[in-house]
Amino acid sequence: MTRDEVLKHLEKIEDLPTLPEVVSRIIVLAQSPDVNIRDLSGLIHRDPPLAAKVLKVANAPYYRCFLKDIDSLDRAIILLGMEEIVNIVTSVSVMSVFVDKGRGTGFKRKQFWNHCVATGIIARSFARELSAKTAGKEFVGGLLHDIGKILLDAYFHSSFVEAYEYSIENRCPLFMAESRILGITHMEVGYLLALKWGLPQYLGDIILNHHWPDKARFKDMVAIVSIANLLAKAGKYAYGGEKSSFILSDQSGWQVLDNMGYTVGAVDMERFTMSMDNVGKEVDSYITTVSGHSNGR
Ligand SMILES: [Fe+2]
Ligand SMILES: [Fe+2]
Repeated sequence: MTRDEVLKHLEKIEDLPTLPEVVSRIIVLAQSPDVNIRDLSGLIHRDPPLAAKVLKVANAPYYRCFLKDIDSLDRAIILLGMEEIVNIVTSVSVMSVFVDKGRGTGFKRKQFWNHCVATGIIARSFARELSAKTAGKEFVGGLLHDIGKILLDAYFHSSFVEAYEYSIENRCPLFMAESRILGITHMEVGYLLALKWGLPQYLGDIILNHHWPDKARFKDMVAIVSIANLLAKAGKYAYGGEKSSFILSDQSGWQVLDNMGYTVGAVDMERFTMSMDNVGKEVDSYITTVSGHSNGR
């Protein structure tokens, strides 16, 4: 298969997943400079199942840092902040659109989402560790960074399975195997979807550049997600055939952060990786809350 064939085919697909209209409007609204609580809350309320899910996630252990339950969307917006609510809406909606895509064989969906959620959670902890001002966006970024893999699986299933197996057999990164077999990578395909959906530019940047953060525009955000991606793989949240041992300070994400003046050298990585022992529980709880069924292992 060639790159052009894949692109042509993607253009022709009529049932390409779409975001619910309300969600697209929320994403657009969130990018405007004069967004206010009432508009945001009004829009989310137009989609009652979405409103219920956002409230559920806001009360999940992962977000929960308040003694009392958050019982209304307006309260959630006040307590968590508009930015965080938009992060939740984006994550929950994209995940809901995709949770049932993919065909099971070869592409292991559960393993895939575990990897993505783990990357988001680790990215958030790492951003906190660095006191990065990424406003929770690194979580959504981590969650969506590999979204192109779902498209490849859904619309180019046999070639994608072939690429997946090639990456395992040859212990090479999946994107190299994709390039070889499909002529295109999950980063490019995911980026096309991000453009089509009008996702914020930082998300498109993360999706396109998470394997080479030095090329990114939103460099610190992409670098943080790229390191979280590596750490997720080094833990038990791998997907594909990449080697999981690496020297962190040799990674381009690390160097990008160092060059930007982040004190990466001062992070106690031993303590940080130990704290990742809890990631499993958080991954399960997040997936259970968003998908509505248990993420049994
Ligand atoms: Fe990737
Ligand atoms: Fe990844």
